[in-house]
Amino acid sequence: MLKSSPQIKLAPSILSANFARLGEQVAEATKVGADYIHVDVMDGCFVPNITIGAPVVAAIRRFTDLPLDVHLMIETPERQIKQFADAGADIITVHIETCPHIHHTVQAIKGLGVKVGVALNPGTPIDTLKEVLSSLDLVLVMTVNPGFGGQTFIEAMLDKVADLRAELDKNGLATELEVDGGINAEFAPQVVSAGARVLVAGAAVFNSGQTIEEALRKIRASLL
Ligand code: DX5
Ligand code: ZN
Repeated sequence: MLKSSPQIKLAPSILSANFARLGEQVAEATKVGADYIHVDVMDGCFVPNITIGAPVVAAIRRFTDLPLDVHLMIETPERQIKQFADAGADIITVHIETCPHIHHTVQAIKGLGVKVGVALNPGTPIDTLKEVLSSLDLVLVMTVNPGFGGQTFIEAMLDKVADLRAELDKNGLATELEVDGGINAEFAPQVVSAGARVLVAGAAVFNSGQTIEEALRKIRASLL
């Protein structure tokens, strides 16, 4: 008997979008089948680049009904979470490397009435999540070192995704397992086999020489 394939969500990362036409690009991604809109917030400190802040999240909020999946690559994220929640974020993900008081940070995000995620850099082991795992709505496994779009997928992360999938399943947790970095039609099936259920993709979706619709269709087709 055929095993039914799991429901996979695609989360285009606007990092590779045309920032001069951000609203239009978000609306287009929404229309052609994205599941989340992934928003990369960088502070030039935790990661080398600076991208956008809460006002831009508020601006794109008007162009989509999809969940805004806000990935904070910033130091001291607790100082910013309220601004992002007020701007319309549906999911706020912080990096564990920036949160010495992760239990408190997770509770603070939940207290704002939004979903909470925690991200792990490639070099950070999944054990660091153990004490908070059951409180999370989402875990984000970085499959590149954060800071830039268009990098190459780190294949060693497949084992990490599989380990985390096993841990979630062992504990009966419905926490979403998201991967971010270098995802395209080649690696999408591999991360899904390893246990990922939400795939972020930037360079493979925006400015990839094809329409957003074609790009999303190509990733979905790779999963069949
Ligand atoms: C990397 C960001 C990613 C990035 C993914 O620091 O967190 O979301 O935009 O882009 P691609 O798919 O181009 O690696
Ligand atoms: Zn991201």
